[in-house]
Amino acid sequence: MEHQILKGKKGIIFGALDERSIAWKTALAAHAAGAEIVLSNAPIALRMGKINELATLCNAQVIPADATSTSDLDNLMTKSMEIFGGKIDFILHSIGMSPNVRKNISYTNTNYENFLKTLDISALSLHRVLQSAMKADALNEWGSVVALSYIAAQRTFPGYNDMGDAKALLEGITRSFGYHYGFAKKVRVNTISQSPTVTSAGSGVAGFDVFYEYAEKMSPLGNASAEDCANYTIMLFSDYTRMVTMQNLFHDGGFSFTGVSTSIVEEIMKNNS
Ligand SMILES: NC(=O)c1ccc[n+]([C@@H]2O[C@H](COP(=O)([O-])OP(=O)(O)OC[C@H]3O[C@@H](n4cnc5c(N)ncnc54)[C@H](O)[C@@H]3O)[C@@H](O)[C@H]2O)c1
Repeated sequence: MEHQILKGKKGIIFGALDERSIAWKTALAAHAAGAEIVLSNAPIALRMGKINELATLCNAQVIPADATSTSDLDNLMTKSMEIFGGKIDFILHSIGMSPNVRKNISYTNTNYENFLKTLDISALSLHRVLQSAMKADALNEWGSVVALSYIAAQRTFPGYNDMGDAKALLEGITRSFGYHYGFAKKVRVNTISQSPTVTSAGSGVAGFDVFYEYAEKMSPLGNASAEDCANYTIMLFSDYTRMVTMQNLFHDGGFSFTGVSTSIVEEIMKNNS
């Protein structure tokens, strides 16, 4: 799908760790659609991940920023505008991490220090990114900011732990900041609620394989891949979606509006017989 719908646009893409990352696929799709991009990730991820390979493929510069550090984000905005020689048109926030999930600490026995880190990294970071952009007046009018969410913001998925609360906050910040940025600068802010996807963050969730398969069986179109998500994101960065803001947009093959599917019913009947 190489339509040049982002020709002339410039953007920052957070969160490409390796070739499975949703941000990785989005960077490639944005580049193919004609955009100029800057890549960013936490300093530790830059050391461990493969972002420099991606930077070569996309002809992009890499600027480290811990998404929980306002000074890193302020620096990122200033440097990106220097590289682009002007303002920015789009930002992808593709950032998530829960120390409780990583350490297998259950939701009911949560460690509150970890919980606060989950919220800071996975949700408040969107507020920080938007605040840094607004302070630096870094985004062009009709600019577009997209963050990635999951349906655990609305419905409980026990293995998803405190990330469900983080996603609910992320979607709340999207609405609240979207309101302010819309009136101030006509900037759009939306979340995409993506199907389970095999990535480093995704596979770290307890029972991931089972709920990946469950979602695949429940969704009339099947699970949406990372590439599909990248294409949807490109559309949201483009001028075709100028009037869409403050939304949580399900990109999940119909999972969110399916009560139960025949294949799940048949499986239960088979197990009961
Ligand atoms: N994989 C799934 O099943 C799935 C489903 C729905 C939504 N999402 C969301 O998509 C987004 C991207 O995740 P992914 O699945 O591509 O996995 P991923 O592990 O490839 O990406 C997560 C990224 O967050 C970055 N990150 C963590 N802490 C950070 C910090 N302090 N500062 C800056 N960056 C930091 C990591 O370095 C990594 O690049 C996340 O928000 C995730 O919750 C994933």
